[in-house]
Amino acid sequence: MTDDHTHTHVLDFFTPRAADWDSRFPDDGPAYAAAAGLLGLRPGDAVLDAGCGTGRALPALRAAVGREGTVLGADLTPAMLEAAVRAGRGASGTLVRADVARLPLRDGSLDAVFGAGLISHLARPEADLAELARVVRPGGVLALFHPIGRAALAARQGRTITDDDLRAEPRLREMLAGAGWRLESYTDEDDRFLALAVKQS
Ligand SMILES: C[S@@+](CC[C@H](N)C(=O)[O-])C[C@H]1O[C@@H](n2cnc3c(N)ncnc32)[C@H](O)[C@@H]1O
Repeated sequence: MTDDHTHTHVLDFFTPRAADWDSRFPDDGPAYAAAAGLLGLRPGDAVLDAGCGTGRALPALRAAVGREGTVLGADLTPAMLEAAVRAGRGASGTLVRADVARLPLRDGSLDAVFGAGLISHLARPEADLAELARVVRPGGVLALFHPIGRAALAARQGRTITDDDLRAEPRLREMLAGAGWRLESYTDEDDRFLALAVKQS
């Protein structure tokens, strides 16, 4: 699959959903804030929200790193970034149109990456997780988050979860290891999926 095909799929899926993205799940705010709080960010840190969409996590990430910190939100879908601007999220971080497969960032320039609802949409998840590892310093953190657990999401979509699911713990652990991350904690409850990983040196 070429990049163009990958991007077309993502744009076709998310462009029509951008305008009412936030209003579809209005109660998710506290869950995003709680997940962002688990990254262990300190004032002055630099953090990327990868696939930031409408930027729902950006205010919590800004609160964690303070005014002197750096908050970036990167997304492939212009309509999502436009919705982020309309929602005022540009006040919390710098919004960039970028592919997580090729980030315009130097090696080791970040302390942490937050990725909510991202990994299932990636065409080459291990390669993209390796690109996220490239831009994070050794010891930095990756949070893969979703405000609903795997089983509850599958039920909502009329599916059942299987062991070859990308986010099943053994598969995710192995993929993260191949991409330069060590899985540190894994939570898959009805109202929260959260995998925390640390960048290996
Ligand atoms: C399910 S949405 C989640 C948005 C936001 N993180 C949230 O939790 O509300 C996934 C987002 O990832 C973006 N995305 C998918 N593939 C991407 C890629 N390769 N690079 C950057 N963003 C991507 C989509 O455009 C979309 O905005």
